[in-house]
Amino acid sequence: MRIAIIGGTGNLGYGLALRFARAGHEVIIGSRTEERAVNAASEANQTLDGGVIRGAENGVAVSTADLVILSVPFSAQESTVLAIRAAARGKVVVDATVPLADGDPTRVEMPPEGSSAERVQALLPESNVVAAFHHIGAKALLKLDHAIETDVMICGDVQSAKQQVLPLMEALGTRGIDCGPLRQAQTLERITPMLIGLNIRHKRRHTGVRITGL
Ligand SMILES: NC(=O)c1ccc[n+]([C@@H]2O[C@H](COP(=O)([O-])OP(=O)(O)OC[C@H]3O[C@@H](n4cnc5c(N)ncnc54)[C@H](OP(=O)(O)O)[C@@H]3O)[C@@H](O)[C@H]2O)c1
Repeated sequence: MRIAIIGGTGNLGYGLALRFARAGHEVIIGSRTEERAVNAASEANQTLDGGVIRGAENGVAVSTADLVILSVPFSAQESTVLAIRAAARGKVVVDATVPLADGDPTRVEMPPEGSSAERVQALLPESNVVAAFHHIGAKALLKLDHAIETDVMICGDVQSAKQQVLPLMEALGTRGIDCGPLRQAQTLERITPMLIGLNIRHKRRHTGVRITGL
């Protein structure tokens, strides 16, 4: 699958780019500037010892992709999404954004739409938004020989869109779980500040979440 990662120069997006490229997906790292994207892609290809990651300005990255991952800070979400709106028409957009409170990553400040993902869907009415990746630590992704120790809970209103996203979790060495409609993002996004708080209190780096009984 050809995957564009908007914010792929950053912590989470870069780690996802490495993992997905290593699993054989065609990855395009997106950035506000082409130069930053190309540099990040070149560094990632060196890490993978000959990967095929490309770098492009965000809009170009989206227009050439089958599937788009949005991995930017919540404060940058609206401007980023509006900049890719035309290119993302008809595509699956996977939102990883957690609306962490300014200055306190152990709290969220949910937007009026209910969640970050629902806000993206409101901004991109002609795309199919899926929420995912909220509970993966970026640093864990960089340890390429380690499995990711968390289930990846996803949600979305369009079943065929979720069916495109779920198999991607195999590339991360973990399991994806369909948690229902997009409004469940209100729950998924709220778990992240709890995990961050656990990491702080227990001096851990990679707490995660597993669903039992499935
Ligand atoms: N880090 C994690 O472990 C983690 C885990 C789960 C979920 N998340 C969520 O994933 C998202 C990305 O997190 P991150 O830690 O990877 O973020 P980050 O490294 O701070 O930023 C990611 C990228 O977003 C772009 N960006 C930054 N500030 C921007 C601005 N003001 N306007 C437009 N673009 C901007 C930058 O790309 P360019 O400058 O190249 O355009 C940057 O490389 C967040 O919403 C976060 O809540 C993160």
